[in-house]
Amino acid sequence: TETTEIRKGLAGVVADTSAISKVNPDTNSLLYRGYPVQELAAKKSFEEVAYLLWHGELPTPAQLGEQTAAERVHRELPDNIRDAILELPTDCHPMDVCRTAVSILGAHDPQAEDSSPEAELAKALRLWAVLPAVVALDQRRRRGQEIVHPREDLGYSANFLWMTFGEEAEPAVVQAFEASMVLYAEHSFNASTFTARVITSTLADLHSAVTGAIGALKGPLHGGANEAVQATFEEIGSADRAEAWLEDALAQKKKIMGFGHRVYKNGDSRVPTMRAVLGDLAEHYGQTEVLDLYDTLENAMGSRKNIKPNLDYPAGPAYHLIGFDTNIFTPLFVASRITGWTAHIMEQRAANSLIRPVCEYVGPEQREVP
Ligand code: CMC
Repeated sequence: TETTEIRKGLAGVVADTSAISKVNPDTNSLLYRGYPVQELAAKKSFEEVAYLLWHGELPTPAQLGEQTAAERVHRELPDNIRDAILELPTDCHPMDVCRTAVSILGAHDPQAEDSSPEAELAKALRLWAVLPAVVALDQRRRRGQEIVHPREDLGYSANFLWMTFGEEAEPAVVQAFEASMVLYAEHSFNASTFTARVITSTLADLHSAVTGAIGALKGPLHGGANEAVQATFEEIGSADRAEAWLEDALAQKKKIMGFGHRVYKNGDSRVPTMRAVLGDLAEHYGQTEVLDLYDTLENAMGSRKNIKPNLDYPAGPAYHLIGFDTNIFTPLFVASRITGWTAHIMEQRAANSLIRPVCEYVGPEQREVP
């Protein structure tokens, strides 16, 4: 009899080709359209990276100007979406708010059922432009604060921070946040991107694919890890308690959030850049204790399990330092990854094949209904 090889979790399965990003676990490198992500984070704006992911090349000044103009006019939350968000309970998870907002935006989108490349790009841009307003409003309404409207004179990241906190962020903070947006933007066939591609493969619309992707990102094994890392840091409290805490957590067979990766087994290429960003933020805010805890837990995890941190490990405490509420961290990931998701949706649509794997049936053999 023929035996089928089952790859649980599709580990190592090559499901399709993609020209968007290359993950090389041997060299710990991640390239967006050929460019090392850490160099993009150092030299390019998130707006330029969004353009790169969608179009395959970095923009000329004129192309960037055109995209920027389009992004800035779509920053404001339409009244009906704002009202719908304000009706949602303040104790639901902010990822539910994000997911719901994208779903409603789809229902109202005049191009919802137009999947031409031009319409797909326009929809991607509008979602990217408006998501910061969704996330900012959600944090503010939970804090009992008034909505802050977008400013057209600010770049993407500065405006995002403005709408969230109601004051202009200092340049060092804008730069740190911007780097996180670049690092989170794209990562090949991760669970949420693959979800978006599965949905697109049925020829469903872009908003459906993004709504599904948000659902996949919510879980703590994926995007929800950045929130979970902050919870871990708060539970541990200080560096001197990290080793004992880890001992206990591992004895209980707990997964340590922010560590490990399905593809990278020798370290996540995005971590050194984000760790440096966290270091800068800690200096900026005069809260360097967090770095002691960070390093102690990382070293302990390294010597106990030889498992290295992933991007969520430095991103969680970095977002905390900036002042975001912990439950808003994963929506920040959404605001960034919308670029990669939509690039994949467009790539999937351009050379589509229905994604529909098979399984090996292990239930009862055929039997008679009594
Ligand atoms: N804490 C404790 N043990 C771990 C961890 C961890 N974070 N990650 C892996 N291991 C252990 C795992 O228990 C297993 O041990 P054993 O062989 O004794 O059973 C071994 O390492 C291999 O792990 P695995 O679960 O087979 O690896 P995977 O490829 O299925 O899992 C992962 C990848 C990301 C789901 C997992 O590492 C994990 O749960 N990490 C914590 C959650 C997290 O940080 N997720 C973010 C992922 S990356 C960025 C993102 O998407 O946001």
